[in-house]
Formats: sequence, structure tokens, C-alpha cells
Amino acid sequence: MNIPMNLGPESYDIRLERGALGKVQEIFRLNRRVLIVTDSGVPAAYAETVAAQCGAPYIAVFPQGEQHKNMETYQALLSRLVQEGFSRTDCVVAVGGGVAGDMAGFAAASYMRGIDFYNIPTTLLSQVDSSIGGKVGIDFQGYKNIVGAFYQPKGVLIDPEVLKTLPARQLANGLAESIKMAATNDPALFLRMEREDIPANLDAIIEGSLRIKKYVVEQDAKETGLRRVLNFGHTVGHAIETVSGLSGLYHGECVALGMLIMAEPEPRERIRAVLEKVGLPTSYCYDRAAVIDAMMLDKKVDGDHITVVTLPEIGRYRLERITLEALKARMEEVLL
Ligand SMILES: NC(=O)c1ccc[n+]([C@@H]2O[C@H](COP(=O)([O-])OP(=O)(O)OC[C@H]3O[C@@H](n4cnc5c(N)ncnc54)[C@H](O)[C@@H]3O)[C@@H](O)[C@H]2O)c1
Ligand SMILES: [Zn+2]
Repeated sequence: MNIPMNLGPESYDIRLERGALGKVQEIFRLNRRVLIVTDSGVPAAYAETVAAQCGAPYIAVFPQGEQHKNMETYQALLSRLVQEGFSRTDCVVAVGGGVAGDMAGFAAASYMRGIDFYNIPTTLLSQVDSSIGGKVGIDFQGYKNIVGAFYQPKGVLIDPEVLKTLPARQLANGLAESIKMAATNDPALFLRMEREDIPANLDAIIEGSLRIKKYVVEQDAKETGLRRVLNFGHTVGHAIETVSGLSGLYHGECVALGMLIMAEPEPRERIRAVLEKVGLPTSYCYDRAAVIDAMMLDKKVDGDHITVVTLPEIGRYRLERITLEALKARMEEVLL
């Protein structure tokens, strides 16, 4: 199916279809020079399948991991574009998770002031979240995503078939974002997650999550207000992610903990049950003071106040400006 992203002159379609990777040439315009950007953890067959359908394919493989979403890899991609003689009418295709998508998108956004970019997300997190927000970028000097741009792709292809090679923990990592979107915006989808088998309903969960993200992004493409709903679980989650450091909790695992802290008791128990069902953590031994300190660096803090998304009930969220003291008390109250 095609899910249109209506963003005026920057509109594009998201194609969600099992097996679509094998017919990408019918969906994207690939009869030109195409730089396919992937990383060493993505099964090579995916990039090769795309390459086989391009006019003039070039594959750039960088080492996997967030630590390579940096200036060095970005520069290597730009060098490759120059060396291979890419012009304004050529294009870049990302085949990978959020790391490949963010980096390929940023290279496409900046090379010759912008060439066409297509995204083929291959992790659940990138399929339901990062590939359709129009945000691209890299980490720099220890700050995540601090250099980047808003740059819409010309198309996004989501083939759930590629998830069969994704490790279970990575799948759960992406499900945390879907749970977030259902809990804040779609009580019916949340109910399905509670009642039905999740792996068996993955395509419907991807579609439901995409529709929510689409709606939010269409209302607020440049992240000025409404898009803040997507921060549910993220304010505390990011701080836990920073503090957990090398113990290496995944982003979605931290968001899972953050959602439990920010939900009111009734929705909290429902979220807890779904998290347990998909193997996401519901408890974690953490240093609350360090988490508060990490939150002080958050851009949502002004003075001793912070704006957070709370969840009075499943399907309804609230933006609240609370003191850091109140947030700390909440963390004490919700023992994880
Ligand atoms: N642009 C945005 O709006 C936005 C939103 C959320 C997250 N992000 C970014 O996304 C990144 C995280 O993305 P991610 O969770 O997809 O991580 P990732 O891209 O690092 O992928 C996770 C791992 O899975 C491997 N992999 C990818 N596809 C696979 C497949 N089909 N089978 C087996 N292995 C596969 C990768 O090689 C990697 O090792 C972060 O850098 C984050 O900042 C961006
Ligand atoms: Zn997230």
C-alpha cells in the first residue's frame, strides 16, 4: 500500500509492502547514478538487491554502530559522491537502520545543496520512526544529532520482510516506539497490542505506527509544537540512556522505562504488561540524581522547570510544565 506524506511541494509516498525490495525500480527512479549507503551489520543481500535494479549503482558500506554516525563517515560519503562524478540529477538510497538513513540523508541534503534521497529502512525502529520524520544528521563532538537538516526523502520503501534477519532485541527496540505512538494516539492499536500476538501482527503495527507519525509530522514538519507528543517517554528516557552509558541499554529500552515513569497509574500498568510481553525492560537499577543531572542538559529545561508529556489514559496525552523536583518525586514514586 502507499501512504502519502502530504507536505506540500515536499510530499512523497511511503510504500509499505512485503517483498517490495525486489521491485524497488518500479517505485523509485533508479535509472541514473545511485549511491547505496548501508552498514556492515545490514545483510549485504539487501543493498545488492537494490543495486541490481539501478542504472549505475555504487555501494558504500560503513562500519555499523552509532559511533560511526560521525563526521568521518559523512566525509567519506561526500568523497565517494565526488569521486564517482555524481551530479545534481543523481541520487542516494539508504539501506539500513536509523544510522544509515540519518547519515545518507544528510550527505544527500548537503551534496550540491541537495540531491534526491530515498530511504529503505531495515530496522523496525527506522521503519516506524526515523525514516519518515524528515530529520537527517550526524553526531558531533559527543552530541547526538547536533549537525543536520530537515530534508524530506523523495520516497520511502518499507518491506517488513527484511525484519526476519533483525535480532529480537532490535525488534523490541523498535516496538517501544510503536507502543509509544499507540499509547498516546491510538487506543484501538494499543488494545490490539494487548490482546493479540505481536510478531504475527507486525505489518498492522507498522502501518498503525506510520499513520500516527504521518499525522504528527504533517501537522508539524519542523517540530514546533505538536510533534512534542513523540517525546512521550523520551525526556527521562534520554537521560537514562546517557547515564546507562556503557552498560548499553538500547534507546527503545530507555524509552520503555521513561514511559512507565510518565504514565499515570492505570495506563502505566497496561503499558507495563505490553512491555513485558515484547521483552522490553520494566525495571532498572539507576542513579536518580545522575538522571536528573543529565536532564538538566535537556533542551526542554528552562530554569528549574521542564516540559514533559504525561499520559492520563491510553490514547490521551498532556503536555505539562513541571519542576525538576516534581519529576524527581515521580521517579521515586514509580519504582522500577
Ligand atoms: N531522523 C530521525 O527522526 C530519527 C528518529 C529516531 C532515531 N534516529 C536515529 O536512528 C538511529 C538508530 O536507528 P536504529 O535503531 O535503526 O539503529 P541502527 O541503524 O544502528 O541499526 C541497528 C543494528 O541493526 C543492524 N541492522 C539493520 N538492519 C538489519 C536487518 N534487517 N537485519 C539485521 N541487522 C540489521 C545494523 O547494522 C545495526 O547494527 C540513531 O542514530 C538515532 O539517532 C533518527
Ligand atoms: Zn525514540
